[in-house]
Amino acid sequence: MMRSHWSFFQIMGTLVLLVIMLLCEVCLGGVQFVGKVYPGSIKGAQMNWVDKDGKFLASSSGKFTFGFATTADDNTKFLVVIVHVKSNTLIWTANRAVPVVNTDEFEFDEEGNVVLNKGETVVWSTNTSGKGVSSMELQDNGNLVLLGKDNTTIIWQSFNYPTNTLVQGQNFTEGMKLISDPSPNNLTYSLEFNSGDVKLYAGFKTPQPYWSTQSDNRMIINQNGGVVALATLAEKSWRFYDKTRALLRQFIFVNLSGNNGTWVAVLGSNGLITFFDLEAGGSNSPSQATIPQGSCNTPETCDPYSICTGNNKCNCPSVLPCKPGFDSACSDKSITLMKGDYGLNYVALQFLKPFSKTNLEGCQKSCNGNCSCLAMFFHLSSGNCFLLDDIGSFQKPGTDSGYVSYIKISSDGRGSSNGGSGGGSSNKHTIVTVIIVIVTLLVISCLIFVGIRCYRRKPNVPESQEENSEEDNFLENLTGMPIRYSYKDLEAATNHFSVKLGQGGFGSVYKGVLPDRTQVAVKQLEGIGQGKKEFRSEVSIIGSIHHLHLVKLRGFCVEGTHRLLAYEYMANGSLDKWIFKKNNGEFRLDWDTRFNIALGTAKGLAYLHEDCDSKIIHCDIKPENVLLDDHFMAKVSDFGLAKLMNREQSHVFTTLRGTRGYLAPEWITNYAISEKSDVYSYGMVLLEIIAGRKNYDPSETSEKSHFPSYAMKMMEEGKLREILDSELKEDVNDERVHIAIKVALWCIQEDMAMRPSMTKVVQMLEGLCTVPKPPTSSANLGSRLFTNVFSLSEGATTSSGPSDCNSDAYLSAVRLSGPR
Ligand SMILES: *[C@@H]1O[C@H](CO)[C@@H](O)[C@H](O)[C@H]1NC(C)=O
Ligand SMILES: *[C@@H]1O[C@H](CO)[C@@H](O)[C@H](O)[C@H]1NC(C)=O
Ligand SMILES: *[C@@H]1O[C@H](CO)[C@@H](O)[C@H](O)[C@H]1NC(C)=O
Ligand SMILES: *[C@@H]1O[C@H](CO)[C@@H](O)[C@H](O)[C@H]1NC(C)=O
Ligand SMILES: *[C@@H]1O[C@H](CO)[C@@H](O)[C@H](O)[C@H]1NC(C)=O
Ligand SMILES: *[C@@H]1O[C@H](CO)[C@@H](O)[C@H](O)[C@H]1NC(C)=O
Ligand SMILES: *[C@@H]1O[C@H](CO)[C@@H](O)[C@H](O)[C@H]1NC(C)=O
Repeated sequence: MMRSHWSFFQIMGTLVLLVIMLLCEVCLGGVQFVGKVYPGSIKGAQMNWVDKDGKFLASSSGKFTFGFATTADDNTKFLVVIVHVKSNTLIWTANRAVPVVNTDEFEFDEEGNVVLNKGETVVWSTNTSGKGVSSMELQDNGNLVLLGKDNTTIIWQSFNYPTNTLVQGQNFTEGMKLISDPSPNNLTYSLEFNSGDVKLYAGFKTPQPYWSTQSDNRMIINQNGGVVALATLAEKSWRFYDKTRALLRQFIFVNLSGNNGTWVAVLGSNGLITFFDLEAGGSNSPSQATIPQGSCNTPETCDPYSICTGNNKCNCPSVLPCKPGFDSACSDKSITLMKGDYGLNYVALQFLKPFSKTNLEGCQKSCNGNCSCLAMFFHLSSGNCFLLDDIGSFQKPGTDSGYVSYIKISSDGRGSSNGGSGGGSSNKHTIVTVIIVIVTLLVISCLIFVGIRCYRRKPNVPESQEENSEEDNFLENLTGMPIRYSYKDLEAATNHFSVKLGQGGFGSVYKGVLPDRTQVAVKQLEGIGQGKKEFRSEVSIIGSIHHLHLVKLRGFCVEGTHRLLAYEYMANGSLDKWIFKKNNGEFRLDWDTRFNIALGTAKGLAYLHEDCDSKIIHCDIKPENVLLDDHFMAKVSDFGLAKLMNREQSHVFTTLRGTRGYLAPEWITNYAISEKSDVYSYGMVLLEIIAGRKNYDPSETSEKSHFPSYAMKMMEEGKLREILDSELKEDVNDERVHIAIKVALWCIQEDMAMRPSMTKVVQMLEGLCTVPKPPTSSANLGSRLFTNVFSLSEGATTSSGPSDCNSDAYLSAVRLSGPR
């Protein structure tokens, strides 16, 4: 008995020892080398060096280290990098495009080759097998070198393969490139040698240069002309040399005296090169000087087709709502060449060779006849014609650029209703001119007519003459403004407010017919406590917004205490009438229509968020505020109204009673309200469109009463059929159903940073980019907050963050309102 006991303990002891030995082997992998290492000495994955933060080699002074680091946006993916330790700045990356995981191995093998594997495949290698490598050294300047037998010959060095950073002392020579990380629009920039100069390029289909050392008037010229063969950072300047190492010109990026520091130049994803001192705060304290200088000098200071007007201010061109979004200039859609705004310039023009030297017609003709031409610039005095197959933002210089610009626009939808016909033949051209002249004359006479009417009406209005004329002038000076009506006009139009269309959050809506027989919906705003001036300026903002998927404001009335808005009439009313079972008996919408409504709504919101001069957060997205015209096209209504509300508006909480199910959690917590709050509400609406039921329905079983949680659960279990409206069963295999469900679940993520932008939502719904599987873990928290919203009682305290909406009002309303 005793014997067998002992042997049991012996066995256990051996096992424990084995485990300890195994652990130790892992520990041994964790040695961090310093300075030089020899072939065969390094082999391991990130987890072998966890306690060294993944770094397996340090430079002799410890200033730089070499090893694994996580990528910026995913801490389960790893890059092999050289890091400046003090500032934690990456100066070089081996496998930028292909991150690995924490079990993938890096090796400096016996043959002298350095490889990084991802599973079985090599993702990066120095390709130095059998080249006589005797050691690898991380030098104190941040250069990783493979040395030959004599300890001095450099067989390979990281300085020859820069990523987006140049370090002081690093030679940038012909054949090398700096490539930036991609911008939000997936554009990369590069710094390259080309025809004897160093230039910056934007990585369009055809790369477009936007800076060269010769074009920068801040350069200190040492020797005119010359062929640049080498560039290097030294002593606070960037120096450009020729083949014989004669200094041609230099750019002094900082005027500090004293300590030399360790400067680096980084090509950012915004297309700018910035300089900063690694010893003094790294990227947190860049130099004032950037390359290129100032705003508007990169192709994507603003969105494509937008106009950049100094101080990085972006405007939409007048001929199209900012993003035209056509795929190809040669699709079946009809394409027209529209004249761009006056005096525009484009940053690449000064570097491009003209396509031809011709006259304006010739230039238009070559653009019209060329599928890949998206924009065209014609230099009036020289006759140079430039065709561009891709375009970033335009520049609007203070003085006339001397160019006339044309952009191709597809004339089907996308708001470019100015359609018209192309400027191809001169015959067509004349017709277009005649039409434009006639339309202009008509518009002018209309304005005069309206002006006279207003003038005549004045005595009827019990207000001071002066103020009125000031107002009228104000309005007439703004083109495309909604018309100002008198209260009498609207009273007559609505037949004394007899046909009530609905009761919205801001007041009642009545059907009306204007004298010109157009139908309108007149909204009688209640409890708008704002003064006339504020009201007018808000209305002028709302009225200047035109988009296919936004309800158009036709006119308004501000008289005494009356505040009315006249909108275009939407024959099919609001979305809630068409998707919920409660309104049964009636015909409910098929999947195609629902999808188009969801997409249209998203486009409308994306426009409000991203394409307007002043960003507009809707703050009250719900099915009641999505209106349908007679073709069931969706238009968002009531945008901009949140701003009209006063702090203590008791009416707001009437609104919120019907709306609370759509409010983002940050309304209740004290985070700032942003456009992402609209994204949340949109996601809730989208879910209701898909499911054909209210998101919160106490009459359902407890599992299903809070539908978002239920949908997330079903998504996790792969039961999409359970999410889709039971009346749409046959559509469950439609790809768009899957997309829409995933998009909705992304939009209602509790963490606002996880929610996509509305533009992204549009792209996902249109199938332009893939939709990853939404994370479902926040489901519970979501329902907790949701129930909170419904059970907030008088005592609950909330505080408001800064926001564009009148958040105080909303939040205090949430606080005040009792249970539903
Ligand atoms: C090594 O060779 C492969 C294949 O020839 C090549 O793709 C890779 O860029 C090379 N690596 C380096 C660091 O030159
Ligand atoms: C190279 O360096 C190693 C170690 O530092 C030394 O043993 C070797 O003799 C050196 N070789 C030459 C050629 O200097
Ligand atoms: C840079 O080039 C100069 C001259 O060609 C050379 O002396 C120097 O060693 C080079 N520096 C590096 C780090 O390669
Ligand atoms: C960005 O562009 C690259 C290459 O041009 C492409 O492979 C990649 O899919 C694009 N990514 C996105 C998010 O569009
Ligand atoms: C450095 O000083 C010169 C002369 O005072 C000035 O022209 C230049 O703009 C300054 N450069 C920087 C980067 O501040
Ligand atoms: C800065 O660098 C230059 C050249 O390397 C050197 O002559 C000068 O003494 C340095 N200045 C300081 C303050 O270190
Ligand atoms: C079409 O335009 C592109 C530039 O946008 C130009 O590179 C190309 O040569 C043109 N093709 C023809 C056939 O003119």
